[in-house]
Amino acid sequence: MTTRDTNRFTLIETEVQFALDNFASDVSQGLLAMPKTLPCRHFYNQRGSELFETICQLPEYYLTRTETEIITAHATEIASLFDEPVSLIELGSGSAIKTQLIIEALLAHQPNLLFAPIDISQSALEESALELLATYKNLEVLGVAAPYEVGLAHLQHKISGPRLALWLGSSVGNFQPEEAIPFLREVANSLSGEADRLLIGMDLHKDRQVLERAYDDAQGVTAAFNLNLLDRINRELGGNFDMSGFAHRALYDEDRGRIEMHLLSLSAQTVNIDNLQLDIAFVAGEHTHTENSHKYRIENIPGLLEAAGFELEKQFTDQLQRFSLNLARPLR
Ligand code: AVI
Repeated sequence: MTTRDTNRFTLIETEVQFALDNFASDVSQGLLAMPKTLPCRHFYNQRGSELFETICQLPEYYLTRTETEIITAHATEIASLFDEPVSLIELGSGSAIKTQLIIEALLAHQPNLLFAPIDISQSALEESALELLATYKNLEVLGVAAPYEVGLAHLQHKISGPRLALWLGSSVGNFQPEEAIPFLREVANSLSGEADRLLIGMDLHKDRQVLERAYDDAQGVTAAFNLNLLDRINRELGGNFDMSGFAHRALYDEDRGRIEMHLLSLSAQTVNIDNLQLDIAFVAGEHTHTENSHKYRIENIPGLLEAAGFELEKQFTDQLQRFSLNLARPLR
């Protein structure tokens, strides 16, 4: 672990992040499996992160807009629930406007604020910290470049007093339910103070058409985001994917309660990945599963949080109940 300290900005870099970024082994394992899969956490190289930023502004992708609307309406109320000054932890780099809305609401209630974002990308942490520090003079940033679990463990002894942890954007939906519960339990264990809280955004079930459009937009940005995985394999692992031989698909599986993203092979083809010494055969119409995005029923959220060691304290939604923002208290 190394720590870099400048005025109001401390960055903690952990070694674990490099060990966990095993793109090559995930690709070989996923493409040799039946059915083929590629994990969605590898979407976010520089181009993928830029495409995701664009997705967040698309008219069809209601998630970001709606969550921002909910935070705008309730940030002051959320900040006023804390009797003492809090520190703000975020699972993510803190680059979105949503985080700024919470920061502003907290700074209206307390003289200064420690903001501790946790993100695997050191550059994303540095970029957003510089922006935030320039905007808010009473802010101190303690960035942790690490996977979330590692970052939370690091922060346990570095922050005293009440903590509010943010996990926005319905990122929990990209976890399988059997992974989400244990992960949230770790978050609950790391929030050990009486006044500590989690604020978590969770997307809600809705019409198939609305959901499928949100993940297959008219401009083709989500398609480019999905196909970027193949481009990444070409660039980083010496693959020879012909991008025009694959198509983006987004399908709502109502029984499983999730949008699935796939890459569909448009013909029978074999792709070589030089660095992995692999030749991968695709049959025409074969799907490679790249992402699940789970949607939640509002009535199931208290039980789900309880299974993860939280009690739902307050729930905020938009008028159309498209999205939910949940304030949860760790159970003792
Ligand atoms: C980051 N995550 C919550 C997004 C989602 O909605 O599942 C990723 C995404 N995939 C396609 N569009 C956006």
